[in-house]
Formats: sequence, structure tokens, C-alpha cells
Amino acid sequence: MTIHIGAKPGEIAETVLLPGDPRRAKWAAETYLDNPRLINDVRGMLGFTGSYKGQPVTIHGSGMGMPSLSIYVNELIRDYGAQTLIRIGSCGAMQQSVRVRDVILAMTASTLSTPSRGVFRELNFAPCADYGLLRAAAGAAGARGVTTHIGGIYSSDTFYDERPDLQAQMVRHGVLGVEMEAAELYTLAARHGCRALAVLTVSDHLETGEALPPQDRERSFGDMVEIALDAAFA
Ligand code: HPA
Repeated sequence: MTIHIGAKPGEIAETVLLPGDPRRAKWAAETYLDNPRLINDVRGMLGFTGSYKGQPVTIHGSGMGMPSLSIYVNELIRDYGAQTLIRIGSCGAMQQSVRVRDVILAMTASTLSTPSRGVFRELNFAPCADYGLLRAAAGAAGARGVTTHIGGIYSSDTFYDERPDLQAQMVRHGVLGVEMEAAELYTLAARHGCRALAVLTVSDHLETGEALPPQDRERSFGDMVEIALDAAFA
């Protein structure tokens, strides 16, 4: 047990999928894993361990934002030995070429983030995905016929952003989309020698105002779970 995770030693798999929403963790575990069992519910942050094609997998909520994800990922890696961590979540698109429902595989994640700023100070560290996972996820998404974009994203500390100038610079520099967790996940994976990737469905478009209808969210989320599971064991 750790401060935020009630699982016993050995109850968390080396492969962990991380949706932001704990109820999505429950849905994904019950839908895609064999014999899923609840291994954490501290503060309502649900985690489940089961198996996929015979391989042990944990699906655990990360909460919203980098400070929340940082707590869970630190404990998953340092106390439970997680090795492969894949975020599955939504993002807002920033380029006209990216459409609602498309998948973005985040090759890099720019950030003004608070958790890592104290560590790197003046260094502009470049958080990046594990290449093997990225390549495998691109193959898995292609095999499913999911329109996929691979490139840089922005991990924001705010959902309700007050910096249109910063957004304009990111659009100008080809940033594909915005979410709130990947940069810290990539940084922690780098720090601890783990593999990480963020697989993101575009739920809304910052430039066009388009949004994914609620009835389509489950199918898009399912695509991400399958892409992440296939990439983890490729
Ligand atoms: N901003 C930050 N995170 C997000 C967004 C957004 O517009 N959409 C989905 N996740």
C-alpha cells in the first residue's frame, strides 16, 4: 500500500493503462480484460488488474492534470514496479488537418508544467514518447483504420486557458492538440527508465469549435484501449 494506492504488493501489473477518469478505468477493465479485479479505490480513484491475451494488465485512473497523474505514476513506478505506462485520454485539436474522432499519438509533449519546472529550472527538457511503443501504436491504429496523427502535443496546466497568444504560437508551430497529462508521464518515465506513450482521441476542436457527440465517446475510447493494449504487447 502507498499513500494513494491501496493495492497489495504484486497486485499491479508491469503494464498500466492510464485513463484520466476512474469510471473509464472500470469500463475498460470490464470490457477488455479477463478476470478484472478492483485493486484500488482510495479517494474513488479506481484501479483494476486483469489480463489481456494472457498478459497481466492494470488499468488505473490518473485523475485530471499533471499534479494528479504525477502522484499515481510515481507510486506505480517506484512502489509497484510499473514498466510500461500508456495514457488513454481525450484532447483538443489545434490544427485544421486534425478532426474530431481522430487519434493523436503524442511523439512529444511541450509544457509550462509545474511538477517538472522545479526539477529542470532553466532547462527546456523535451518529454518524448518511447519509440517502440509509438511505432507499435501507429501500426495498431492503422490496422484498425483509425485516422491517426503523430507529432507534438501541448500538456496544459489549465483547461480554461487565458493565453490565446500561446495557443496561436503552438498552432503556428504545428502542435497537434492539447491535453493535461502527457508531459509529466513522459518525464517520469524518462526519470525512472520506463516506457510511456499517450494515445489520445480528439474530443473537441479549439480552432473550429466542433465537439465529439457524447454517443460517440465510448467507441472512440474503445479504439484507444485496443490500440494501447496492442502496442504494449507488440
Ligand atoms: N484543453 C485541455 N485538455 C483537453 C481539452 C482542451 O481543450 N480537450 C480535451 N482535453
